[in-house]
Amino acid sequence: MSRSVLLLIGGGIAAYKSLLLARELKKRGVSVTGVLTRGGAEFITPLSVAGLTGNQCFTDLFDLKDEAEMGHIELSRAADLVVAAPATANLLGKAANGLADDLASTVLMATDKRVLFAPAMNVRMWEHPATRRNVSRLREDGALFVGPDEGEMACGEYGPGRMAEPEAIADAVEDALSGDGALSGRHVLVTAGPTHEPLDPVRYVANRSSGKQGYAIARACRALGARVTLVSGPVSLPSPRGVEVVRVETARDMLAACEAALPADVFVACAAVADYRPAVETTHKVKKERGGLTAIDLTENPDILAIIAQHETQRPQLVIGFAAETDDVIGHAEAKRARKQCDWIVANDVSPGTGIMGGDRNAVTIINGNGEEAWEDMPKSDVSSRLARKIAEALPPRP
Ligand code: C5P
Repeated sequence: MSRSVLLLIGGGIAAYKSLLLARELKKRGVSVTGVLTRGGAEFITPLSVAGLTGNQCFTDLFDLKDEAEMGHIELSRAADLVVAAPATANLLGKAANGLADDLASTVLMATDKRVLFAPAMNVRMWEHPATRRNVSRLREDGALFVGPDEGEMACGEYGPGRMAEPEAIADAVEDALSGDGALSGRHVLVTAGPTHEPLDPVRYVANRSSGKQGYAIARACRALGARVTLVSGPVSLPSPRGVEVVRVETARDMLAACEAALPADVFVACAAVADYRPAVETTHKVKKERGGLTAIDLTENPDILAIIAQHETQRPQLVIGFAAETDDVIGHAEAKRARKQCDWIVANDVSPGTGIMGGDRNAVTIINGNGEEAWEDMPKSDVSSRLARKIAEALPPRP
């Protein structure tokens, strides 16, 4: 299958890295056509872009020759993905506000394809409220982002704003090309991992959970173009690319992080939240010599899934819970769905010997109130892709 990107190169010092990006993409079998903004052409030349991509480099909206070769509408739609790298503050501002005063910004207005931005700018510009607004508006419109990285910048300052490295952008391009955008413009909130409920500064009460299933779901929804917020308890997994990860310890922190992330279109509660926490948390380590640890008084934690599923003003359109059971899996799961008032429950049997807990495979049954759908045993990543696809199909069309 041929894969092609239209690479918009903005006017930043990071433009030189876009040449490396073009080479990296070509190496991975992705065909690249370059568009250089006027600013971009101050840093690199159309000749080097054409030389490295092997395709004509377009520069001017009103150039008869460019338009004759390929009109800007056709150009904006011929590729499978539009990538803006470096995406300057100016380019983001124009894209967020629908301005089209040169070829690159006109392409962004005219395209019917997904757009991946690799921002690059001075840290103060990146942190400016206008840029924050523009980025969140573009995300709401379904745009994808990679980076920026944090580090020393060409201007001598330190902080976020440095363009992501060419390999990371190429990875994000491949992710975007592999999904079809069925969830683009949607916000999916996922919880994953256990929660730790402290007893004292060194001890805690927790459930078993590797976080693998929740992380895989976050990744799969992202691959379909969703904006994903992953609220994660303590796990030793790397943050999925392009996903906003909020790390928490306790159930109460997890609830607060979920509420702060609303509104969301979809809530997937995959975390193994501790149902109880120690009623008293001491600030000093309880000494065993004093016989202080023979019993723990517990108090109930908030039920995050039930609270979000019954949220008065910001209930996501689709709320999905998980049920890890060891007996009467379907019966318990259906009762849980009704009690918590979520739309679907993904039930699985975690009896010892199934290898599901901490493993890489899962056999789940989806229960939705009208019946159940048992999926065969498969890798957690496949469960996630199939679930993400099912979520996309269940959501009403966007206005
Ligand atoms: O009631 P139980 O813990 O078995 O419910 C499991 C489901 O509820 C999972 O989706 C889990 O993420 C969610 N849950 C929650 N908050 C809790 C307990 C469970 O969100 N305090």
